[in-house]
Amino acid sequence: MLEKNQRVLIRVDFNVPVNNGTITDASRINSALPTIRHFLNLGMSIVLMSHFGRPNGFDDNYSLKFLVAHLSKLLNQKVLFSSDIRDLDVLNLIKPGEILLLENLRFYSEETQNDGVFAELLSKYGDVYVNDAFGTSHRKHASIQKIQEFFPNKSYMGFLLEKEVSELKKIQKSSLAPQTVIVGGSKIGSKIHMLKTFLNKADNILIGGGMAFPFIKYMGGQIGGSLCNNDELEVVKKFLIQSEKSATKIVLPIDCIVTDSISLKTNIKSCDIMSIPDGYMGVDIGLNSVQLFQKFITNSKLILWNGPMGIFETQEFSSGTKAITNAIAEFTASSGYSLIGGGDTVSAISEFSKKSQFSYISTGGGAMLDFFRNQNLPGILDLKTIIR
Ligand code: 3PG
Repeated sequence: MLEKNQRVLIRVDFNVPVNNGTITDASRINSALPTIRHFLNLGMSIVLMSHFGRPNGFDDNYSLKFLVAHLSKLLNQKVLFSSDIRDLDVLNLIKPGEILLLENLRFYSEETQNDGVFAELLSKYGDVYVNDAFGTSHRKHASIQKIQEFFPNKSYMGFLLEKEVSELKKIQKSSLAPQTVIVGGSKIGSKIHMLKTFLNKADNILIGGGMAFPFIKYMGGQIGGSLCNNDELEVVKKFLIQSEKSATKIVLPIDCIVTDSISLKTNIKSCDIMSIPDGYMGVDIGLNSVQLFQKFITNSKLILWNGPMGIFETQEFSSGTKAITNAIAEFTASSGYSLIGGGDTVSAISEFSKKSQFSYISTGGGAMLDFFRNQNLPGILDLKTIIR
C-alpha cells in the first residue's frame, strides 16, 4: 500500500544521447514522466537514480547535474541534486511532493558489479522501489537487480516498463515474415551475443556501423583503424559458425566511408570494406551497402532496427544512417511493421524523419534486443506488481 509520506525510489534510464552538451533526443526522459507524475500526484517524494554513459569512476563530463534544469522545466518544480550518493543526509532535505536526483550511478564501480552493500545503501533512499528503466533492465546491476532484494513485495514496475513489456511481447509473437533485424552502433561486445537469439527466427540480419568491423576482420579484411576489439573475434567466429547451420542470412556491408581523422574530417572517401587503408577508419556504410540493405528492407514485412550505420551526428558521416532511416520509413508507409530501439537510433530517426513514420519506438536498445532472447530480464523478473 502506497502512502503519502513515503519516498519512492525510481530507477530511470536517463542515458540520453547528447551532442555538444545538447540532448538530441529526450524520449527516455519524456517516457518516464507519467510514472514520476503519478507519484507526485499521490503527494509522495521521489528519488530518481540513473546511469549516464560508461564513465570510469568520477568524471564531471558524465555528471547528471545537467539534467536538473531540464527536469525542473518539464515537471514545473524544483529538482534537488545529490552529488554524493553515499551521503544520506540529503534525505532530510526532501519533503513530500519533492524530487531528488542522484548523481550518475556508474561513478561507483559497485553499481555494475551488482554489489549488495551498494544496493543496500541505495535502498535507503526509498520506502518503495520502482523500475522504469527498461533500457537498462538487461543489466545485472545494483540499482536494477540486487536492489530488489531490499524491497520484498515493494518492487514495482513503472508505466514505461509496463508499456515496453506489453508492446514487445506482441511483436515477439508476430508471425509476419520475412523478418529483418538491422544492427549497428558501437556496443559490439554485448550486442553480438544478443544476435544469436535471432538465428532461425529472423530471415535476415543486416550488420552495419561499428558492429561490422569485427566480422570483416575475422573474414580476413583489412579494417585500418576501424572499431574492433580483438576479444570479439572469437565471438564472431562462433556466431558465424552457428549462423551457417541456421536459415538466417547474415548480410554485411560491402563498402564504407572512411576518413583519416574523425575530428578533422579529412580525406573522406569511399572504399571496399575488405580493404580499408592503414591510417583510415570506417565511419559510415557506403552507397553500395545502402542499396544492398534497401533491397532487404523492401522485401521484408517486419523490421527491427537498433544501432546507427555510422557516426551520424557528423553530417559528413551520416548518409548511410539517413538512407536506412528513410528506407524504413517508406517500408512502414507501405504497411510494413517497424520496431526501432535505442537512444542513438531514436535520435537518428528524429533527426532524419518523424517518429510517427515508424510502427513502435522502444526506449531500449540492447534491452530491446535481449528481450527477444529472454522476457525475464534481470530488472523485470521479480517485478510482479504494476503501480496503479
Ligand atoms: C542503453 O543506452 O542501451 C542503456 O542505457 C544501457 O546502457 P549500457 O549499454 O551502457 O548498459
